Amino acid sequence: MTETITGTTTADGGAPAAHAAAGTKKRILSGAKPTADSLHLGNYIGAVRNWVDMQAEYDAVFFIPDLHAVTVDFDPAELAHRTRVVAAQYIAAGIDPDKSIFFVQSHVPEHAQLAWALNCITGFGEASRMTQFKDKTQKTGSDSATLGLFAYPTLMAADILLYQTDLVPVGEDQRQHLELTRNLAQRFNTRFGETFTVPEATILKANAKIYDLQNPNAKMSKTGESPNGAIQLLEDPKIAAKRIKSAVTDAGTEIRFDATEKPGVSNLLTIYSSLTGTPVPELEAAYEGKMYGHLKVDLAEVMVDFITPLRNRTNELMADPAELDRLLAQGAGRAREIASGTLAGVYERMGFLPSGNLPGVR
Ligand code: TRP
Repeated sequence: MTETITGTTTADGGAPAAHAAAGTKKRILSGAKPTADSLHLGNYIGAVRNWVDMQAEYDAVFFIPDLHAVTVDFDPAELAHRTRVVAAQYIAAGIDPDKSIFFVQSHVPEHAQLAWALNCITGFGEASRMTQFKDKTQKTGSDSATLGLFAYPTLMAADILLYQTDLVPVGEDQRQHLELTRNLAQRFNTRFGETFTVPEATILKANAKIYDLQNPNAKMSKTGESPNGAIQLLEDPKIAAKRIKSAVTDAGTEIRFDATEKPGVSNLLTIYSSLTGTPVPELEAAYEGKMYGHLKVDLAEVMVDFITPLRNRTNELMADPAELDRLLAQGAGRAREIASGTLAGVYERMGFLPSGNLPGVR
């Protein structure tokens, strides 16, 4: 959905010279870490749904950055489960593994290989200025942070540059990482010859933000204070309906969109509009003279209709791990076709000797 993304944030555009994609469609790439078993409604409306819509217009690459997930504390069994169940949810939500390239990052070794090359053209000071790293280590102290966390942004740059990506749809919090990626692409191209497309960020518009149902001044998140604040895509639809019905509303009775005066009702209107495609002003007109309770009952029904098939499809995929593995292996295969070509160019330009055709060695 093009209206959900703002214009590009960078004026000078990229150098399309190195673009290897077939056809005229621009390539987009994005990923989100598998940090919970169930995606929540904020993830879906804020990101996944945009990706699903963009598949028609773009040559799309989506992946699960499991290598990034181990840069902070993690549990191996939990990581394995989450990677699967998040993959299943993306497919259930409409990421089409035949239309798009959809894979798990660790299945494509070129990501780690290119990250190393990029590490060696990234300044220590430059990496030290990344605000996400600073924020994350401020709490714990840099001694307990890993080298992996420090290198998070260069691995992310590798994710993007391997595929000659034109556009990267991400949230505002990733803007600085995108700037680094652009700088590294330009630096490499200047020093070693045209190799990478310089990507642009398309920052997902803030109006797609979904807030906590119990505290509508905070973003819906997996770490909200009350479990009733978030809708989990994999939960019992009846519970989801209950959470909508018990959402905090505001003083007064009028159903109108006003994010400052009526954050609770406005959030419900945003959710309603996002899931049905009905514009907010039309909803306001339809609910004129009605009470908050009417809106909640209707939205609860919309929620059940939305969650039920998504949950069923996810459970189906989880019940057939061989099929899920096949889809992910197919995605990794298609990803490697592109990634290995880019990496070969990088290695050659950096002066690494060709490895010949030794089995298992590239
Ligand atoms: N850092 C991103 C996030 O936290 C996830 C990510 C990793 C990503 N690699 C990427 C996003 C490449 C876009 C492109 O959301």
